Amino acid sequence: MIDLSTKLGSLELQNPVLLASGVWDFPYTKIIDFKRLGGVICKGVSPFPKEGNPPPRITETHCGLINSIGLENKGFDYFECEILPELKKLGTKIFVNIFGESIEEFKEIASKIKEVAGVEVNISCPNVSKGGEKFGKDPKMVFSITKAVCGETDLPVIVKLSPSVENIEETAQAAKEGGAMAVTASNTFPGLVIDLESKRPLFKRITGGLSGPAIKPLALYNVYRIKNAVDIPIIGSGGISDYKDVLEYFIAGASAVQLGSIIFNNPLAPIEILDNLICWLGEKGYKNLKDVNKK
Ligand code: FUM
Repeated sequence: MIDLSTKLGSLELQNPVLLASGVWDFPYTKIIDFKRLGGVICKGVSPFPKEGNPPPRITETHCGLINSIGLENKGFDYFECEILPELKKLGTKIFVNIFGESIEEFKEIASKIKEVAGVEVNISCPNVSKGGEKFGKDPKMVFSITKAVCGETDLPVIVKLSPSVENIEETAQAAKEGGAMAVTASNTFPGLVIDLESKRPLFKRITGGLSGPAIKPLALYNVYRIKNAVDIPIIGSGGISDYKDVLEYFIAGASAVQLGSIIFNNPLAPIEILDNLICWLGEKGYKNLKDVNKK
């Protein structure tokens, strides 16, 4: 029996494979056995409903996907009544991704999230004018928001970092000092798509957030940098396509990973990755995932 369990601070996960915020919805329960996952992060919730950006909102690129959703959601009241009860039926650990346009809004939403495994603080969305990566690029704001959120909840707090910074070690350190239990490294990278018909940027907000295999080496490097500078558990996120990518993230310093765009290509990827991890560990003679990093 191979043990895939992993720890994020004091939180034990049965395996390191989490589904990222914004890439899955309940119809996936028909395809994926959610009970097998380490956990899921739900689409971001804000205190009030948010319309999101005008269409088009998503397009494929070579080796990736670029989106300009704009954190559309129906707000906390809808989340509490309609979504949370369904999340609780999934049989896996639930992390609620939260965001606000001010520290006060972060406090408000953080104080309302209950009965889940943890919260993921989104200060890194590249697709909004207020908050998002504007907050996540400023270490002082990262510290203040993290501290404010941690002051409002007893749940473990994960801070989703922006890759659009010179020193991701600095923002990871700020999250740690603010009281974060872990960081997610990292969110999508801002990018541009030109529409050849109009000869203008495809998205109304000009840029979108790039995800998928194109960003894997970049996000992996962010994990490596944080691991070597800051003593905080890291959730690796960016371009994971198969079990080898998960192992790379693990060896670079992640304790868990988030799968994102891959599940649009292959909804069965999370389960295939888990099965392939077990096979690989068995073939190499490892009894558990943690042994991979033992010399
Ligand atoms: O809703 C969003 O625009 C999320 C984008 C991202 O984080 O890439």
